[in-house]
Amino acid sequence: MSTNQFDKKSEAWSALFSEPMSELVKRYTASVFFDKRLWQADIAGSLAHAEMLAAQGIIGAADLASIQQGMAQITSEIEAGNFEWKLDLEDVHLNIEARLTQLVGDAGKRLHTGRSRNDQVATDVRLWLRSEIDLIIPLLGELQGALVDVAEKNVDVILPGFTHLQVAQPVSFAHHLLAYVEMFSRDAERMVDVRRRTNRLPLGSAALAGTTYPLDRERVARSLGMVDERGEPQVCQNSLDGVSDRDFAIEFTAAASLCMVHISRFSEELILWMSQNFGFVKIADRFTTGSSIMPQKKNPDVPELARGKTGRVVGHLMGLITLMKGQPLAYNKDNQEDKEPLFDTVDTLKDTLRIFVEMVGGQLNPATGVKEGGITVNAVAMEEAAKKGYATATDLADYLVKKGLPFRDAHETVAHAVKAAVSHNCDLSELPLAVLQGFNASIEKDVYECLSLRGSLNARNTLGGTAPAQVLHQIARHRQRLA
Ligand code: ARG
Repeated sequence: MSTNQFDKKSEAWSALFSEPMSELVKRYTASVFFDKRLWQADIAGSLAHAEMLAAQGIIGAADLASIQQGMAQITSEIEAGNFEWKLDLEDVHLNIEARLTQLVGDAGKRLHTGRSRNDQVATDVRLWLRSEIDLIIPLLGELQGALVDVAEKNVDVILPGFTHLQVAQPVSFAHHLLAYVEMFSRDAERMVDVRRRTNRLPLGSAALAGTTYPLDRERVARSLGMVDERGEPQVCQNSLDGVSDRDFAIEFTAAASLCMVHISRFSEELILWMSQNFGFVKIADRFTTGSSIMPQKKNPDVPELARGKTGRVVGHLMGLITLMKGQPLAYNKDNQEDKEPLFDTVDTLKDTLRIFVEMVGGQLNPATGVKEGGITVNAVAMEEAAKKGYATATDLADYLVKKGLPFRDAHETVAHAVKAAVSHNCDLSELPLAVLQGFNASIEKDVYECLSLRGSLNARNTLGGTAPAQVLHQIARHRQRLA
């Protein structure tokens, strides 16, 4: 046991200071109450560093053993909730180091050899974020799976596709949902890509310039799993850059923002579809709330909140990127401000993904083995809506083109037909053949097939189109990809 372990952070550096830090400054500069959630990464980084120091003969084997034993005890104290986090010790790093020294004496004081809090914190944040990305990627997979499940049941359900929120052309509801599957699959790709650049080791950069001790940085990288696909250790190659940049956190928050934007667009559609004016879908009651005054209300609070929380995550992206912009090399205390936005981005994204997985796909009923309570679809309402707004007008134009008309002329001809239908208050498909032939003599009886919603869908049978044959092909592709 050492007698001179430090209890206050001023004691962690030196006798140089002639007065203690004021209470106000202590609170202002401390991060322990939010950065303590990095504790596992901090201990893992310290253990890898200590093991390397011993292997390089920089500290003795006995010191390493003491550090390992002390860290094991600290781990159980934190897990049991009886580790005393001290504001006086500023951050997670000094808290853990001080407790280690209290427990194992001089060995604890040797841990910081060849290391600085600057490379330590950069390592911790990277390790922590890596483990969070490893939770987010499977959640994105689950959400895609839930959407594919709903799509599979709705290949032949037709709803109006919109541009400018005006009825445009009929589409399969499955096709519409699969558009989101594409977005979330790109979000997952981005996460994989961000993970690669996050998974690089700053330790060994020390304060900013590297260190005089013969560290084996690649050994530390390997023991922390900071390796590429081929198992090659990934180490930040410039000490100034290693301690100071947070671009990996910014990139992650940008990827998270895009993902939230996709969720927000989907939320906006759910909210529209659930309104009485559409009546296309229902979500389970547990994702809605009532009104304190209007007894008939069921409000889509979950999608609305998700749409709202998107603003918060995009705000964090702005915060982080602005945090970086004026900083000279190398580490500056500004970087302590990276944590709260990053933590909140991770928490918000994970919670939102989890809730959407369940809201879309439902919850497994263990008694029946069937998922219950996902999105319910009102196919009749969707199809009725698709019949309004002359959604098959383009099909009539395409029909005329196949009869030899130039597309621009066909477009004009159909505009006249739509005008006639509007004045008769009927759909194009309800105009008698003779009336249609009045617009172009080449029109024959088979025109009614192309004016039908199903005919319109079936006709769009090119790669990426909404024809059920194409949609089934995409479902199969996603199933294989997600398996
Ligand atoms: N709590 C600090 C942070 O989050 C740790 C690094 C402090 N380094 C320093 N030189 N003051 O950035």
